[in-house]
Amino acid sequence: MSTRAWSEGPLFRDSDGIGFLAYGGDYNPEQWPEDVWLQDVELMKLAGVNLVTVGVFSWSKLQSGPGDYNFGWLDRILDLLHSAGIMVDLATATASPPAWLVEAHPEILPMTEFGTKLSFGSRQHYCPSSPQYRAAAAELAAAVANRYHNHPALRLWHIGNEYGCHVSACYCDISASSFRNWLRKRYGTLEAVNSAWGTDFWSQRYTSWAQINPPRSTPTFNNPSLKLDFARFSSDELLDCLLIERAEIRRVDQSVPITTNFMGLFRPIDAFKWAEALDVTSYDSYPDPADDEAHIVSALASDLTRSLGGGRPWLLMEQAPSAVNWRSINLSRAPGQYRALSLQAIARGSEGALCFQWRASRSGSEKFHSAMLPHVGTESRLWNEVVSLGKEIADLADIAGSTVSSSVGILFDWENWWALEMESHPSSDLRLVEVLLPIYRGLFELGVTVDFVHPGQDLNPYRLIIAPALYLIGDSPAASLATYVKAGGNVLVTFFSGIVDDEDHIRLGGYPAPWTETLGLVVEEFLPIPSGATVTMSGDLLGPLGGTGRLWSEEIRLKGATVLLSYLDEWRGDRPALTEHHICDGTAWYLSTLPDRESMRAILQMVCETSDVTPALAEPNGVEVVIRGGNLFLINHTKIPRRIDLGVPFFDRLGNTMVGPVLEVAPMDVLIVAAAAPGGV
Ligand code: GLA
Repeated sequence: MSTRAWSEGPLFRDSDGIGFLAYGGDYNPEQWPEDVWLQDVELMKLAGVNLVTVGVFSWSKLQSGPGDYNFGWLDRILDLLHSAGIMVDLATATASPPAWLVEAHPEILPMTEFGTKLSFGSRQHYCPSSPQYRAAAAELAAAVANRYHNHPALRLWHIGNEYGCHVSACYCDISASSFRNWLRKRYGTLEAVNSAWGTDFWSQRYTSWAQINPPRSTPTFNNPSLKLDFARFSSDELLDCLLIERAEIRRVDQSVPITTNFMGLFRPIDAFKWAEALDVTSYDSYPDPADDEAHIVSALASDLTRSLGGGRPWLLMEQAPSAVNWRSINLSRAPGQYRALSLQAIARGSEGALCFQWRASRSGSEKFHSAMLPHVGTESRLWNEVVSLGKEIADLADIAGSTVSSSVGILFDWENWWALEMESHPSSDLRLVEVLLPIYRGLFELGVTVDFVHPGQDLNPYRLIIAPALYLIGDSPAASLATYVKAGGNVLVTFFSGIVDDEDHIRLGGYPAPWTETLGLVVEEFLPIPSGATVTMSGDLLGPLGGTGRLWSEEIRLKGATVLLSYLDEWRGDRPALTEHHICDGTAWYLSTLPDRESMRAILQMVCETSDVTPALAEPNGVEVVIRGGNLFLINHTKIPRRIDLGVPFFDRLGNTMVGPVLEVAPMDVLIVAAAAPGGV
C-alpha cells in the first residue's frame, strides 16, 4: 500500500477542492522591499499565477545565528499570497548555508578531488556528510515545518534545491570516514571490498579500512570499481540529507506532498532511488535555445521525470521564460517557445508550468536571467506571453491528474551511466546520452511516447524494451530481460550492453554474456570508430542508398540470429550491423553501431511495427504529438507550418472550435484537440 501523501488525481487543489494546473515560479521576495510585494501580487493575479515557490535561498534571511529565527517577513508574504488566492510551494531553505554557520564550522565547506576547499560566496557550498551541516539543515527544516505546516496557502514542500548541482561529491576527511562506513554496510568485511574492487590489480590491496579514501587525484586511472562505489556513496549521502529534512517535515505534517527538484539528465544523482522518497517528482528544464533540438531534450527529460514517479503526474518546477545567465552566450527563447515548451511539459504529464523566476533580480549573479516579470516591466512581448499562457493553462484545468501511457520502455540506470563513462574503455567518445538521444529522437519523430524503465522494474507492461548502451547489468535484471523475451516480449539491445556486473567486473564468455542466447550471437571484439569517421551499412531496410554508422562497431559471431543490416569491413568482410533473433514468442534485435538519423528512424519504425507499438498519430509530419487524458497535443517546434491529417474533425481546446480533419500547425504553435469539448458541450 502506498504511503505517499499524494499518488493520484490532481496534485493541486484550490480551497474548494477543485483540481488545477499550477502556473507561476520561484518567488524571492527577500530580494525586494515590501512595497514591491504588493505590486508583485497584483501582477501575479493579472498573469494567472496560482502557485509560487518561496524561500529556496532564504536561509540567511530566516536565521541570523543559532536559534535566532526571523520568520516575520515570511509570515507576511505567505499571508499576502494567500489573501490573493496564490498558493505556495514552500522550500526548507537549506540549499545554501549562511556565512555565520560557515564561520562557526568551516569544516562544512566541501573539498574537491584535488584537495581544494571551496569557499563561501556563491551557493550550495556544503559537504553532504558534514554532521554540522546536516544538524543545522534539520533544525531549520523542522522550524519551517513547525511554523507553516498549517498555513492555508501551503500546497507542496520543496526540500533543498537541485541536490548535487555545483557540488555533487566531497573528498574531505569527513567524507572519507563516511565512505568507509558506507562500505562497511555494503560489504561487511575488508576482504569483500578487496574482492569487489579487484585490488590484486596494480597492487591496490587494502589491509585496513583507514587506508581507503575517496578517489582523490591519482597519477593515472583510479580503480573503476572504487569510483563506481564512490558515485553510489555520493548520491546516497546527498539523499540522506534529503531524508533527514523529510523526517522533520513528516514529524508535524503527513498530508502535504514533498518534492525536490531534479535536473533531467543529471548524472550524479540516482534519481530512481531518490524518487522513492518523494510524493511527486519535479525537474528544472533548461534546454539551450541555441540547440535546434532543445525541445527533444526537454521532451526526454519530461518523460524521464514522469517515469521516475512511476508514471504519476509530475511538476515542471523551473524553466527560463527566455534566456538564462549561466552559459557563455545566453540566447533568448524564440517568441512562442516559452508557451510551446510549457505546454509540452503539460502534455507529457506535468501538473503545471513553473519558472525561475517570477521577478527578474536587480543584483547578484542572476540579474541577467530572464523572469516572468522582466526588468523592462509589463510593456513587453515576454510579459504578454506570460499573461496569455496563464489564461490558457487555467482553461486546461481538467487535465490535472490525468496520465500519459506508453508501450515502449527504455532501460535507464544511473549506476550504468556512472560505470559506462569511466576512463580506460574502448572509446571515450561513448557517452550514454550520445546513444540515448538519437534513439529517443527517432521515436519522438515517429510520434511514439516512451517511458524510462529501471532494469529492476517489471518489464511486462511494455510491448517493446530498448536497452541503449546498458554496459552494467545486475544478475537479476539481466535474467528478467531474457525471460521477458522468452515470454513474447520484444527487445532492441545496442552495442556495449551486458558487459559488466554490479562491481564493474567483466561477464566472461563472449559479450553480452547474459544475452548471447537471447540475441543469438556473440560479440568477439569491439571496433570503435574514430570521431568523424563512419562505416557504410546496407540491407533491404535502408533501400538502395543504404546508410552509415558511427562511434562503434563490433566483430560478431552469429549463433542463430539473422542479419538485417551489415557493413563492409576491408579486413573482415561483411559484418552484422543489425540482427534479429526469434526466441520462443519474442524477438530480440541487436544494433552494433550508431546509425545516422534516417537509418535510425527506419530501424525504429520496423522494430515498433513488429512489436505492435502504435504512435499517437500515424503521420506526425515533423510535429510533436502526445496524448494526455484524451487530449492530443500537437506542437510545432519548427520554423515552417506543418499540415496534419487527423482523419476526423476534432475540437480545438484553445481555439474553442471544431477543426480538421486536415489542419495546419503554425511555426512554434500548439494545438490541443479532443474528441469533444470538455464537459461535453
Ligand atoms: C537552477 C536553480 C535556480 C536558478 C536557476 C537559474 O535551476 O534551482 O535557483 O539558479 O538554476 O537557471
